[in-house]
Amino acid sequence: MRTHYCGAVRREHLEQVVTLYGWVDRRRDHGGVIFIDLRDRSGIVQIVSDPERTPTAYLVADSLRNEYVVKIQGRVTQRPEASLNPRLPTGDIEIYADHIELLNAVQQQLPFQVSTAESESVREDLRLKYRYLDLRRERMRSNMNLRTQVIQTLRRYLEDQQGFMEIETPVLTRSTPEGARDYLVPSRVNPGEWFALPQSPQLFKQLLMVAGFDRYYQIARCFRDEDLRADRQPEFTQLDMEMSFMSQEEILALNEELICHLFKAVKGMDLPRPFPRLTYTESMARYGTDRPDTRFGLELVDVSDLFASSGFKVFANAIAQGGVVKVLSIPGGNAAISNVRIKPGGDLFQEASEGGAKGLAYIRVRDHSDIDTIGAIKDNLTPEHKAELLARTGAQSGDLLLFGADTTAIVNASLARLRLGVGHELQLIDAEKTNLLWITDFPLFEWNNDEQRLEALHHPFTAPHPEDLGDLKTARSQAYDLVYNGLEIGGGSLRIYQSDIQEQVFAAIGLSYEETHNKFGFLLEAFKYGTPPHGGIAYGLDRLVMLLAGEESIRDTIPFPKTQQARCLLTQAPASVDLKQLKELHIASKFSSETR
Ligand code: AMO
Repeated sequence: MRTHYCGAVRREHLEQVVTLYGWVDRRRDHGGVIFIDLRDRSGIVQIVSDPERTPTAYLVADSLRNEYVVKIQGRVTQRPEASLNPRLPTGDIEIYADHIELLNAVQQQLPFQVSTAESESVREDLRLKYRYLDLRRERMRSNMNLRTQVIQTLRRYLEDQQGFMEIETPVLTRSTPEGARDYLVPSRVNPGEWFALPQSPQLFKQLLMVAGFDRYYQIARCFRDEDLRADRQPEFTQLDMEMSFMSQEEILALNEELICHLFKAVKGMDLPRPFPRLTYTESMARYGTDRPDTRFGLELVDVSDLFASSGFKVFANAIAQGGVVKVLSIPGGNAAISNVRIKPGGDLFQEASEGGAKGLAYIRVRDHSDIDTIGAIKDNLTPEHKAELLARTGAQSGDLLLFGADTTAIVNASLARLRLGVGHELQLIDAEKTNLLWITDFPLFEWNNDEQRLEALHHPFTAPHPEDLGDLKTARSQAYDLVYNGLEIGGGSLRIYQSDIQEQVFAAIGLSYEETHNKFGFLLEAFKYGTPPHGGIAYGLDRLVMLLAGEESIRDTIPFPKTQQARCLLTQAPASVDLKQLKELHIASKFSSETR
């Protein structure tokens, strides 16, 4: 039997005989003495074998190669002063191997080096194809350990200190609207009918509140068929929670306690409470986004009124059509940012156009009396307006003003992108900072231009703000998001629990009576049998672990993730299937000739 994990052997075990299992991380032959770094999920320990002290084990040790699987028995010994290794938790000791048993050898060349000692950077496609080897490597091993620790901490806190119950909800279910496409599963026994994999457990957790389980949580797998990014996967994990009989304030307070507890447990960090808050409107006005990175300033300033009646047509027209003019004032931007980068073809222009902007106007502040810019703005700024512009932006000589003039959405999106890009480039972001903040008072609906209808900004079960019940179309909601260094890590709301208000919301997003009752009749009916007021939240667990681990992609926090093309390189899924299987499922495929 194993007595210890490799990474757990310490000075306190000196003179004990230990039995370890693991992989050969590295084998070194130092003039007849063989050193083996033995590795398991907990870390590394140094094994020593020499022909005099451990003659039987020596022959086996000599034959070992990287990634061989072995069992080792030996005595824990103090390392000589000269070979102490303070970088290893086990660096004070080594183990003289009396017995080494080879359990399994490596039979073909490894696709990449696994060893902790190798800092070789490996292509991501190769890492994903051989994920089981990648998971042995230091970085992924540590990320997986952190992930486990995070989940364990959350579970313990919610169950033991807050009385939550973990309850599972179905994976084969009906569509849950969270704004993405569904993954569908055909039903063999019900020809022509389909299950949808849950985009979240939203409807079931609300039904659990109707059922009276007033504090629910689940580490829940969710499925969304949407365009992938570094922080999005088609299959991801939420910490999902729902609570009855609690106000928004009480829910936010409980969640702050949970997050503080987590940061203390895994990072040893005390987060200041209460977390700062911004309303959606304020966040959009100042940062152009509802997930602002508040580790740095560089806020957007609305100068629409200064340009509304100016002769500068581009700005005046944008405002006349209901749009805005906003400005980003970049300290020292004159020296740091050349005209080429701002004009068509330049990287900043490109960044702005990805937010929808058609142009990028700018002003270089030389000194307070001399504003140098493209002719049109300059010629149309009165001295009073110039002074006001400088006062409002706080711009100093040497600063660069970048303007967005278009619809509010386009100006916000493009300046928010520029703000982040410039913030990174000019190193305005302190990587040591941890900024968590709530965004509250979201609009209940947003306009979907493609479909020419309102749609729920969060999901259609979000309760309207009680002050705004008079006109749902423009109402605020009782929703809240938690933002961590510019990433949305969680979102939730108080829910509608009255069937009449729920029906009004469905009607506002353009669902007919038939559609509503066909899709959500069970929910509306449930609301008629004594539904408690309730609310909840869900955190993106993969994102949370990513930020805690200091990683930049959630692929590095998920054991077996998909690529950006939503493929699993390890199993080669998705894959074609037999025609026979499709027939059983009552599916005709236009790719059927390729399905053999
Ligand atoms: P929402 O859709 O905001 O809310 O999701 C909650 C959190 O899940 C994470 N997330 C994702 N993580 C990785 N890949 C994805 N594709 C992905 N999509 C979302 C985000 C997000 O904040 N049912 C509601 C919650 C509620 O109202 O209680 C919901 O799912 O971090």
